[in-house]
Amino acid sequence: MSITAIKKGIGIHSNLPNIFENIQINSGVVHHSEHRGSKITYGGGSFLPLYIDEAYIPKRDWKMLSKNEKQCLHPQAKLKDHNNIYLGELPESVKKHLKRIDFSHCKTREDVIESFAKNQEVTEKLNEELNKFLNSISNSKPFHLNCITTNLPNLEMVACDISRLPENFTVEERKYMGLHNDGTKFMKLHTTYKFGNRICINLGAEARHFVYVNLSMIQVHNMLKKKMDTSKLNVYNVAECFFKYYPNYPVIKIKQGRYQYYIAPTDNCFHDGSTLGNTSLDINMVYFGNFNHQNH
Ligand SMILES: [Fe+2]
Repeated sequence: MSITAIKKGIGIHSNLPNIFENIQINSGVVHHSEHRGSKITYGGGSFLPLYIDEAYIPKRDWKMLSKNEKQCLHPQAKLKDHNNIYLGELPESVKKHLKRIDFSHCKTREDVIESFAKNQEVTEKLNEELNKFLNSISNSKPFHLNCITTNLPNLEMVACDISRLPENFTVEERKYMGLHNDGTKFMKLHTTYKFGNRICINLGAEARHFVYVNLSMIQVHNMLKKKMDTSKLNVYNVAECFFKYYPNYPVIKIKQGRYQYYIAPTDNCFHDGSTLGNTSLDINMVYFGNFNHQNH
């Protein structure tokens, strides 16, 4: 099978040393029905994650980037919030407060919230420093905390669509989405780039991974025009259509260490997080805004 070359699209930039050592590429995706999942151990039991019908999962044939691929992932000349991904590490002024809150015993999101509450004074200082930092990388538009999320360890793909589940669903009943875009009813494929980006900060004890496809929704739309009638294509069915017609388009995987953050236009590209291989709870803080790291 021939290897599909990546196009120039959503690049990656970072001030971290040896950034390309933390980035890998694969040969595309498989439909979840052809995918051998990894077992999750949770609360004494274990289960295999379920997926929504249209979920596609990156293949596991990860390898380091070639010279051409590194070139291709170089950020575009004009860094905009919608055309690049940034990987960075929190400044010491924020980390020093975070280090004083112990999350090591946390098994659930409630435990994490309780840890913040128990350390009220530190949490307030953390908030203050974090806001200063976020202001320094944000343009004039306001940003806001979207959520503190937790994910189980050893999850190949972390995003899950709980809106399709009954109330009081169990952990085992969750259905994971696979690679997806975060578009909403307010967006069209050619407007997703106008909705800013997000910053996701890793507060957990272990590194996690951010996986993504380096194409904007406009690029995806243009590629699909060659394969299908796109009159009914929208932000909800675009992932399924793309992966059906282009299963060999490579996925990029970025390692996000403890206290590191990524900034990504998640409405404008297919992506997900992964905790595969981890053993402790994954904890993140996510803010929505218009973050731009070019001045750092
Ligand atoms: Fe997402």
